[in-house]
Amino acid sequence: MIILGIETSCDETALALIETRGDFNDSFECRVIQSLVHSQAELHSAYGGVYPALAKREHSKNLIPLLEKILKDFPHKRQLTPNSDNGEEFNTKLREVQKKYTEANPDLLQSVLNAKFLNDIPAIDLIAVTEGPGLEPALWVGIVFAKTLAELWNTPLVPINHMEGHVIGSLLADDRPLGAWQKLHDLSLPSIAFLISGGHTELVGVTKSDTAPLAYKIIGETKDDAVGEAFDKAARLLGLPYPGGPHLSKLAHEAREKNISAPVKLPRPMIHSGDLLFSFSGLKTAVLYAVKKAEESGNLNDTFKAGLAREFEDAVTETLDSKLRQALEIKDEAGSIPQSLIVGGGVSANHMIRAQFEKTTKEYGIPVFLPSRHISGDNALMIALAAALNHTSNNKTPHASAKPRELKAHGTKRLE
Ligand code: KG4
Ligand code: ZN
Repeated sequence: MIILGIETSCDETALALIETRGDFNDSFECRVIQSLVHSQAELHSAYGGVYPALAKREHSKNLIPLLEKILKDFPHKRQLTPNSDNGEEFNTKLREVQKKYTEANPDLLQSVLNAKFLNDIPAIDLIAVTEGPGLEPALWVGIVFAKTLAELWNTPLVPINHMEGHVIGSLLADDRPLGAWQKLHDLSLPSIAFLISGGHTELVGVTKSDTAPLAYKIIGETKDDAVGEAFDKAARLLGLPYPGGPHLSKLAHEAREKNISAPVKLPRPMIHSGDLLFSFSGLKTAVLYAVKKAEESGNLNDTFKAGLAREFEDAVTETLDSKLRQALEIKDEAGSIPQSLIVGGGVSANHMIRAQFEKTTKEYGIPVFLPSRHISGDNALMIALAAALNHTSNNKTPHASAKPRELKAHGTKRLE
């Protein structure tokens, strides 16, 4: 089965084309034909966070060129003929689509109307699009685009939950080159998925399901800021560009290399709360006070900033690890404790956090599935893969099976 994945939930415009064979329950394999991610981070950095109207405009502009690139050299089934037996097929279809969706996004539709390469119906069996959670204006661009292609090419469309994408993306066994067949990790269940991104901090219980590949239950989440959001806000206070997570982490690493110690002790929020709730807004406020105080006393220099970045990363890592350890002790309804850990979301690129999770799971004697570098941030490969698994599991009806199943989460929170 060939699947086109579309992801526009935040500030990455992403498309992926994958081929799969086998069934989720039996010898599933996939190969990545192409996976493209166009990041808008630089544009948004001027605003210090994702600016929804800009994200919408950029997605609308980027989707057609990305699709053209991804379909270049890809075989097509047949052409929509301008003068076929049933009239001007291509133009008629375009007019229908235009009538339906013009109001939703005229810019996007205009670029679709101008894209003559859409006339070739590619040999794609399924289109998968992120339906949420995410920034609504950004999500809608992808959804309208996906619906347009599905109608134009008469191809089935499935909606995919972005967070389920992160879970399933992390199951890709290894970083194989484009075109190489690869398997998914053998997932021992029940499992815990730890989703750490710019919009979410969630501990999710993952169990077997009769109607879909996996069932999800949120067992812990943040009361305020997401962990990536906290990284970005702290980084901003340290004068680092958006998205600040990787920059802050680099600075913390330099501090460790140079033996620069923490100038202040930051809190490890809620580690003694006895539940699986997180709260990162207080940590950001503590960084704000530390920076202000240093500024007032004339100590806000590079050494101070590096030491504070190090302390911030330590505080976040310890906090996440403490909650993870609690989650790994929790029995599911059948009385089993977690047999594996899946880590997903942009923050899972963080070296300290990865290393700590590897250490902890080793202590617990269970495997940890961390996303490979190219799949830790937002991408469409994970969306296509989630669609493939939903489609090839027991439940064959894509629309029913692609329901978020407890993973439905609040919208992506962003910098104020
Ligand atoms: O999953 P993602 O790409 O987008 C959302 O769905 O939010 O996550 C983006 C988040 C940003 O907050 C970014 O700063 C953070 O992931 N991030 C990191 C690192 N790389 C990305 N945070 C800490 N350390 C990193 N190395
Ligand atoms: Zn994400």
